[in-house]
Amino acid sequence: MPARLVDGAAHARAIRAELRLAVERLVSSGRPPRITVVQVGDDPASTVYVRNKQRAAEEVGFRSSVERLPRAAAQADLDQLLDSLAETPGLDAILLQMPLPAHLDADRALARIPPRKDVDGLHPYNAGRLAQGTPTFVPATPLGVLELLRREHLDPTGRHAVIVGRSRLVGRPLALLLLQNHATVTIAHSRTRDLPGITRGADLLIAATGSPGLITGGHVKPGAIVIDVGITRDPSTNRLIGDVDRPTVDPVASVITPVPGGVGPMTIAMLLVNTLRAYRQQAVLEPADRPTGGPIGPGRQA
Ligand SMILES: NC(=O)c1ccc[n+]([C@@H]2O[C@H](COP(=O)([O-])OP(=O)(O)OC[C@H]3O[C@@H](n4cnc5c(N)ncnc54)[C@H](OP(=O)(O)O)[C@@H]3O)[C@@H](O)[C@H]2O)c1
Repeated sequence: MPARLVDGAAHARAIRAELRLAVERLVSSGRPPRITVVQVGDDPASTVYVRNKQRAAEEVGFRSSVERLPRAAAQADLDQLLDSLAETPGLDAILLQMPLPAHLDADRALARIPPRKDVDGLHPYNAGRLAQGTPTFVPATPLGVLELLRREHLDPTGRHAVIVGRSRLVGRPLALLLLQNHATVTIAHSRTRDLPGITRGADLLIAATGSPGLITGGHVKPGAIVIDVGITRDPSTNRLIGDVDRPTVDPVASVITPVPGGVGPMTIAMLLVNTLRAYRQQAVLEPADRPTGGPIGPGRQA
């Protein structure tokens, strides 16, 4: 029997609906959550991502804005902007759109975002908290993978999870989250020897490489759950493709996330969840804005 497909778009829609309800209740008793995206330069792909994030935020009732700096902006300009956003009252979430132009130091910039407003979970404090097993804000893609598993009733507990990819944004935090959720975790990467030998041991196989079609049927244990995080645009068809070679993997796996429509839609949804969490924390710090109704909505994770 071919693998069952997980409908990430439907799960993301459900999360957004839950968020909308939560925000409606907040607005009736206080202010809505507010997020700002910082974009340096005018890279077309980044502009699309920024617009999508802004649109998604507004759809659930958040206030959102974009702060743009020219491509040639100096590090001091970016620092100054981030410092001023850090101090802006009523601003709950700051996102720094990556990649930055090569002359700018992304680590230095990320460190200026106060951890309580760092909804991308990239500040060293938030990354450190995750590493210690006491997560605060976790990057949205790994969080989205965990939420997909939760909503599909696929408990990682006791399963052998193999993650292919060790990036700061996806592979590494995902490994820590899965560990936190009681999986036995192996991380593979481009220097791993005998990748198929390693991945064939996985009950839960997660591909996050950006190497299209890397994972074939020969990499997959029969009945495994396969999560495809990879997104690459095929230049010949202009379509999005994942890391998983579906024709050979579908007959072997039990469950699979498609590309597009799997993990991708969950990423923005979880960013919004993180923003609502930031709002709630800040509402405590800024009692004047504190709502009186206490909606619970999504966002228990992390
Ligand atoms: N669904 C979403 O919303 C979402 C969000 C973020 C990213 N993505 C996608 O996920 C993919 C990974 O993103 P990223 O930011 O983590 O990328 P990245 O920073 O380029 O990291 C890729 C990782 O994959 C490993 N790798 C690459 N080719 C490999 C191969 N042939 N065999 C084994 N390992 C290999 C690399 O190993 P080394 O460390 O040894 O170089 C690296 O650890 C991309 O396609 C990206 O577009 C999707």
